[in-house]
Amino acid sequence: MNQQRIAVVTGGNRGIGFEICRQLAQQDFQVVLTARNVARGQAAADQLCQDSGKVQFQPLDITDVQQIQDLVRRVTEQFGRIDVLVNNAGIYLDQHQAALTIAPELITQAVNTDVCGTFALCQAVIPLMQANRYGRIVNLSSRTSRLDQMNNLGLTYKISKAAINVITVVLAQEVKDDNILINAVNPGWIKTDMGGEAAQQSPTAQAPDQGAAGPVWLATLPDDGPSGCFFNGCSRQPW
Ligand SMILES: NC(=O)c1ccc[n+]([C@@H]2O[C@H](COP(=O)([O-])OP(=O)(O)OC[C@H]3O[C@@H](n4cnc5c(N)ncnc54)[C@H](OP(=O)(O)O)[C@@H]3O)[C@@H](O)[C@H]2O)c1
Repeated sequence: MNQQRIAVVTGGNRGIGFEICRQLAQQDFQVVLTARNVARGQAAADQLCQDSGKVQFQPLDITDVQQIQDLVRRVTEQFGRIDVLVNNAGIYLDQHQAALTIAPELITQAVNTDVCGTFALCQAVIPLMQANRYGRIVNLSSRTSRLDQMNNLGLTYKISKAAINVITVVLAQEVKDDNILINAVNPGWIKTDMGGEAAQQSPTAQAPDQGAAGPVWLATLPDDGPSGCFFNGCSRQPW
């Protein structure tokens, strides 16, 4: 592809999202780093611009459908295309809570962010990808989405990530003739704010740049690459 490739990444101000932005910029993408906090998002984009060039900040809270539509309109007006969407933003509200102890409203909150946000972004971006007959969408999932990996902790997160897997498979089917590849990925156990103190102290948890490797590989798949699949890093896994 000769044209400048454009990548939109959600939750790009820190953690794995920040590293995804860095690595895509290093691969010559024009990166649109989105974040809901303007000061932190702008600071992250400025830092990456100093390192590797083409990173632009755009504000985006993924729970706000109007903000999603405005973002896609602005990017379309400026660049005319979105080649890559990385749905990275996510929340983990009940990491250490047993299922029966949570308020049911917590499920609504988690689903509203992780599931509705991911779906609304796909819905807003796919028509542009279809028009350009090119697209790669990467949905950040988790090992804990798998039904054979369940324990009694983190019910809202498990529900959210399992639903993201469903969105991945269903939408991949819907766009299978449009050269749009949609996959879900577990980035691994990563030393970020979400990974928390346990990840920071663990010899097996990985650095954010390693967590970004799988998502970035899926964002740059060739036309004959997989779609509607689940990966652990760069390795395909059963759902
Ligand atoms: N770390 C791990 O071990 C691990 C393992 C498996 C999967 N994952 C997944 O990988 C992704 C990134 O995780 P991480 O570890 O980098 O987490 P993190 O450090 O907690 O970062 C999460 C990012 O999501 C953003 N975010 C949350 N709600 C948002 C909203 N409504 N609108 C826009 N942005 C929002 C946060 O923005 P603010 O700074 O504004 O809060 C932040 O940028 C998540 O989807 C997570 O579930 C992580």
